[in-house]
Amino acid sequence: MSGRSRPTVVVTRRLPAPVEQRLAQEFDARVNQDDHSFTTAELREALRGADALVPTVSDRITAQTLAVEPLRARILANFGVGYNHIDVAAAKARGLVVTNTPDVLTDDTADDAIMLMLMVARRAGEGERHVRSGTWTGWRPTHMLGTKVSGKTLGLIGLGRIGRAVARRAHQGFGMHVVFHDPYPPPANVVADLAAEPKATVEDVLREADFVSLHSPATPETRHLMNAERLALMRPTAFLINTARGDIVDEAALVAALERRQIAGAALDVYEQEPHVTPALLTMENVVLLPHLGSATQETRVAMGMRALDNLAAFFAGSAPRDRVV
Ligand code: DGY
Repeated sequence: MSGRSRPTVVVTRRLPAPVEQRLAQEFDARVNQDDHSFTTAELREALRGADALVPTVSDRITAQTLAVEPLRARILANFGVGYNHIDVAAAKARGLVVTNTPDVLTDDTADDAIMLMLMVARRAGEGERHVRSGTWTGWRPTHMLGTKVSGKTLGLIGLGRIGRAVARRAHQGFGMHVVFHDPYPPPANVVADLAAEPKATVEDVLREADFVSLHSPATPETRHLMNAERLALMRPTAFLINTARGDIVDEAALVAALERRQIAGAALDVYEQEPHVTPALLTMENVVLLPHLGSATQETRVAMGMRALDNLAAFFAGSAPRDRVV
């Protein structure tokens, strides 16, 4: 493609170097040099001035943002699998194609969930803080006892790609009994291969599980799915793990459940108002907090970027992008 005919693409955040290199080769790329979080005005400007946008979870692309005139952009190639930060109905109404980056981050996000489960059960964050504080006085049989993971029951809310990868790791790696609820479960042979036991309701999973891990998409139906009533159904010895999206958990209700010792602990990678974290959580030793690291490996972030660029390349070549969501 000649310089003049190359589509103009605004990328809202810095991307790993190999992705930015390809971006520069194939497109007239506008990179956010200092990696700041775009304002609504900048998003609107990009929609007016570029043929395509590569947004991320840190951009809120609302109907109002999309209501720019004239709208030049024709595609939003999201860098990430989750796209609840984009009003896809409004995007569709404006004739925009929206794509995401599934598959390539499944393993890393499943690893993240398992890491959080181990961290919260075995008090890893607390133990690390203890050593770094210089207050560790040495090994003793009663020091910092946690909760055993191997052989326990893991309850999965959602058995999509990432939920299945977590089930596989938990069952094959830790001999866990996996129970799940998914309103759209995978085919019976897939469930049987995972040795996962379906439950009719979310509540059935919560009552039985030693660990509850969330793997639902963020939709109006799943907002505050883990509310005060459902948290109260969990065992007082159970832990909640969230690597999906912050809005699935009512963070205020979670704080209350932890304060009342209704559950034993929580391990979170995502938050209702990222990057804001409800302050009470920061003070709790039985809570593990990570800064949305699910897909944060060099390999996967490059793969996500390449997948977003593949979607753009297909779109501008006149073919159907592989990961079109609307
Ligand atoms: C994803 O891909 O959905 C990650 O959470 C980052 O957005």
